[in-house]
Amino acid sequence: MATVALKEVTKVFPGGTVAVDGLDLDVADGEFLVLLGPSGCGKSTVLRIVAGLESPSAGSVLLDGELVNELPPRERRIAMVFQDFALYPHMTVGDNIGFPLKLAGAEPGDRQERTSNVAAALGIGDVLGRRPSQLSGGQRQRVAMGRAIVRQPGLFLMDEPLSNLDSGLRAELRAEISALTRELGVTTIYVTHDQAEALTMADRVAIMRNGVLQDVGSPTQVYSRPATLYVAAFLGSPRMNLLEASVYVQLDRHVTLAIGDQALYLPWDDMRSRRMAHYHGERIVVGMRPEALTPVAPDTPGHRLVGKIRYLEHHGHETLAFLDVGATAVALDEPSIPTQRAAASANAAGRGGLGRLLTRFSKGNRGGAAATAEAGEPGDRPRNPQSVFFDPGRHHQKPAEVVVRLAPYPQIAVGQSLNVAVSLEALHFFDERGDRIDLHQR
Ligand SMILES: Nc1ncnc2c1ncn2[C@@H]1O[C@H](COP(=O)(O)OP(=O)(O)OP(=O)(O)O)[C@@H](O)[C@H]1O
Ligand SMILES: [Mg+2]
Repeated sequence: MATVALKEVTKVFPGGTVAVDGLDLDVADGEFLVLLGPSGCGKSTVLRIVAGLESPSAGSVLLDGELVNELPPRERRIAMVFQDFALYPHMTVGDNIGFPLKLAGAEPGDRQERTSNVAAALGIGDVLGRRPSQLSGGQRQRVAMGRAIVRQPGLFLMDEPLSNLDSGLRAELRAEISALTRELGVTTIYVTHDQAEALTMADRVAIMRNGVLQDVGSPTQVYSRPATLYVAAFLGSPRMNLLEASVYVQLDRHVTLAIGDQALYLPWDDMRSRRMAHYHGERIVVGMRPEALTPVAPDTPGHRLVGKIRYLEHHGHETLAFLDVGATAVALDEPSIPTQRAAASANAAGRGGLGRLLTRFSKGNRGGAAATAEAGEPGDRPRNPQSVFFDPGRHHQKPAEVVVRLAPYPQIAVGQSLNVAVSLEALHFFDERGDRIDLHQR
C-alpha cells in the first residue's frame, strides 16, 4: 500500500538543535516499523517529517518512490495518531470515527457501513452511540485509531499512542494494534520509548540516539546482535552487564579476556577470536546479558566467573543477584543514567527502558547540538571524548555490578560467593568507541 524512504534526512531547528542527523531509513510495504529511543532523540520529528508537518533541512522523503518533500500533508494518504489525541466531545463514537469520511463527502450509507466495520474490528462496535466522556481510556484510544484508519490510509503513523494508558491496557492494546495493522496490511511507523512495545510489536526496530540512527533490524537482530554499546544497553531488562576487559593473545592457546583478576578464554576455533586478536594489549567492553550467566556449583568446569553477592533483589517470580566480580564498570557516569540496580528496579516496576546513556555512545560520536546540551558536568568528561572507559587519571574506577538471575528467594545471602557459568557464544564485544567488534574488521 505504501513504502517510505528517508535519504540523508536532517532537521535542524532554529536555535541550532539537530533533531535528526543524516537519517537513512526504508520502510517496506505493509511493514510495521518501530522507531525507538529515549526522550528527545528525534522520533516525533521523524514522524512529522514523513507526515509533511515538518520539512527536512536537508535530504529527501520518498513515498512509494516519489519525492514528496514539497507535498502538503493532506495529499500524502497518511493517517496519524498521537499520544494526546483529541476526540470531538459533542459527537458520538460513530460520528467521531466516521467524521473523516464525512469530510471526504462519502454517502451516509457507505459511511455507516465502513464506520461499523472499523468499530467491530476494534472491539468497540457496541458503544457507537456513546459520547467520548462515557468511555474508558482504552476505548477512547480505539476510537482515535478507528478515526485514523477509516479512510484506509496507505501509511499509518503513530506517536506513542499508548503512553497515557495503564500498563495492563497497554499490553492488551499493543497486541490489538499490531494484529489490526497486519490484517489491514497497512504500512505503519510506530514511535515509542518503551523497548517492550518495540520488541513485541515490530517487524523491524530502528533505534535512535541524539538524532542519529544507531541500529535497525528485526527485534531478534537488534537484541541479539546490537550494533552499538548504546543499543546493547538500551534493550533488555535487566539490562546487559557491561564490563571492561583487557585482551591478550596467546597464539598457541586462545585469546584471553582479562576481567579484573579473572579471565575468560576465547578459543581459536571461535570465529570472533581473530578479530579480537587485533585488540591485543587493549581494553574492550564485554557485554553479557543475564541469560548468558548460569549459577553453578564452585567446582564446575568450563568458562566461569566468581563474585561476591553485594545485593539481592526479590521480584517474586525471580531474584536478581548483583555480583562484584572484581571488574571495572564501563563509564555510565551521566547523572541521568541509572545504575544497573536502579535500572533493574525501574524495569521491574513496569517503567521500562534504561533512560539515557552517555553522549559518547552515539554511533560514530555524531552527537550534534542536542548531544552537547545533554552532556554531564564538564568536570566529568573523559579526556578522550570518544572512549567509553573511565580514565584512571580523572575518575575513580567503579566496580561493575553483574546481574545474575536466580530462583525466587534462593538459599543464599549477601556477602556469599556465587559461581556463574558464562556462555561464550552469548557474549558481545565492543570497542572503546562503543561499536560492535565483530561487525567490522579492524
Ligand atoms: N519546534 C521545535 N523547535 C526547536 N526544537 C525542537 C522543536 N521540536 C523538537 N525540538 C527538539 O528536537 C529534539 C527532538 O525532539 P523530538 O520531539 O523529535 O523528540 P522525541 O524523540 O519525540 O522525544 P519524546 O520521546 O520526548 O517525545 C529535542 O531536542 C527537541 O527539544
Ligand atoms: Mg515525541
